[in-house]
Amino acid sequence: MDAIVLLKDDHKTVEKLFKQFEKAGEDAYDEKRKLVDQMIEELTAHAYIEEQIFYPTVRAEAPEVCEHVLESIEEHHVVVWMLSELKDMDPRDERFDAKVTVLMENVRHHVEEEEDEWFPEVRKAMGRNRLQELSEQMAEAKGKAPSQPLAVPSARK
Ligand SMILES: [Fe+2]
Ligand SMILES: [Fe+2]
Repeated sequence: MDAIVLLKDDHKTVEKLFKQFEKAGEDAYDEKRKLVDQMIEELTAHAYIEEQIFYPTVRAEAPEVCEHVLESIEEHHVVVWMLSELKDMDPRDERFDAKVTVLMENVRHHVEEEEDEWFPEVRKAMGRNRLQELSEQMAEAKGKAPSQPLAVPSARK
């Protein structure tokens, strides 16, 4: 396991939830609520470990991707605020499905940029051993991740 593999596994988990949501029936309110609660949990923990450990380490050790990291933090900012709104929104609300759709668009765009545009540069700059070390720290931090989306650092500012 290394840090990038760990993050990509999270991305896959979230993508599965998105696909399930897209397949859920219009009136499957309980199912949609459950799926969105899982999205909130997964994405909050994921954004947290990226912001607490991965992003700052990468900025220090692969400074060439700094701009990508800063853009990523702004994208997280939007996502965690949307998650906090979805947390308290009734799935019968006429804005619920639209908000989930825009959340999914934002996350898919963000994941694509991470995986295709700059994680490969990080892998080149940091190397296998360092990424393995980092994955241990990240796995540990995941256990202590908050469940409130607005507890993720990028929610502020
Ligand atoms: Fe991210
Ligand atoms: Fe990510």
